[in-house]
Amino acid sequence: MSSTPLSKVLVIDDELGPRESLRILLKNEYQVFLAENVASGLRLLQEQGPDVILLDIRMPGMNGIDGLTEIRKLDQEVSVLILTGFGTLETAQEAIRRGANDYLKKPFDTREMQETVRKHVQRTHFQRRHRQTTEALRQINQMLIEELASKDRMAQMGQKTAEFLHDLRNPLTAVLGYVELLGDELRQSKDKLGSQWEETSEFLQNIEKNLEHCRELTQMWLQLGRKDRQAVQVLSLAELLHEVAESVHLQCLERGCQLKLDIPSGLPCQIEGEHVQLVRAFSNLVSNALDAVAEHTGSVAVRCRQEGPWVEIRIVDNGPGIAPENLTRIFEPYFSTKGKAGTGLGLFITQQVIVERGGTIAAESTPGAGATFIVRLPLAKKICKP
Ligand SMILES: Nc1ncnc2c1ncn2[C@@H]1O[C@H](COP(=O)(O)OP(=O)(O)OP(=O)(O)O)[C@@H](O)[C@H]1O
Ligand SMILES: [Mg+2]
Repeated sequence: MSSTPLSKVLVIDDELGPRESLRILLKNEYQVFLAENVASGLRLLQEQGPDVILLDIRMPGMNGIDGLTEIRKLDQEVSVLILTGFGTLETAQEAIRRGANDYLKKPFDTREMQETVRKHVQRTHFQRRHRQTTEALRQINQMLIEELASKDRMAQMGQKTAEFLHDLRNPLTAVLGYVELLGDELRQSKDKLGSQWEETSEFLQNIEKNLEHCRELTQMWLQLGRKDRQAVQVLSLAELLHEVAESVHLQCLERGCQLKLDIPSGLPCQIEGEHVQLVRAFSNLVSNALDAVAEHTGSVAVRCRQEGPWVEIRIVDNGPGIAPENLTRIFEPYFSTKGKAGTGLGLFITQQVIVERGGTIAAESTPGAGATFIVRLPLAKKICKP
């Protein structure tokens, strides 16, 4: 049978008489420890962790008042009851101001003494439980804060991962498409591969280009968050847009749609930026337009013109356009009307890339009459003629 351990009372008194009588009066209800001076009382306090200390004031060596200060340095919660003899009442009251919890007058009224000790044992228990609860709450709070912080990190990671996968999807789809085509060609042209070689090698070149793009994207992913990402270069807008056209070539073929690049010759089209970022931005816009237009009759045009120190690139399609209530939301992350086929990150990423280059992007649409995305980018300084 397990019984709750007895509460502990420590008596610190230099006189044997009161020490012994307290022991006898309390021993049935408590574990009683006796000390004849403050030093051994402090030792017992550390060893036994009493619930109540009965502390005499007048003692040789360290007196009760100084002893109280030492006790409080070790234990804030234990109840300390001052034992007062004749003429030390004021000192006892002073002790209460300094952190004692109550006082008992010698000679003791047995019942009052037992009542007071009982009350203060409970008080100490309450204080300790209160501290434990407060500590437990603090720990829970800390855990919640850490969990929230880690959720936040996870959310950021999740967002970046989704962006990364989104970016990887287009070039990988293209690679897979070409690989499939190549496989077909090789199978059909087994015997006469010689005459087919030109086309076959073109497919191979496309695979290489797309794989290179994947490599660049992977590198960008690894460098995410670092200030020294891919170097900002001066880029030819015409070359960049031809690269974009190549990256969506297969999508055009599949949908039987036309993509027209309208880049006036002599346009001083040098822009500054990270090559891979700008390719991804324009690929997203053209790819969206190709998604939107009708198969076989759809057409998408990319038109460039200079406006002072800016170049304006319009991506125009003859698809169904964008409903006004969606037009205000299309740049939000995860907004998509394509169900499982879309992540809704394309335009969000594109906007970030353009804004990072000091440019702007806007969408216009008359439902039923297509959509136009207007990108404005600053022309590269020095290199461009005004
Ligand atoms: N040219 C367009 N014509 C009509 N709607 C468009 C056009 N471009 C974008 N949208 C609308 O904007 C939404 C968001 O485009 P966004 O590129 O951000 O995501 P998504 O294309 O749906 O998904 P993902 O880019 O992952 O394929 C699209 O779902 C579509 O509703
Ligand atoms: Mg998209």
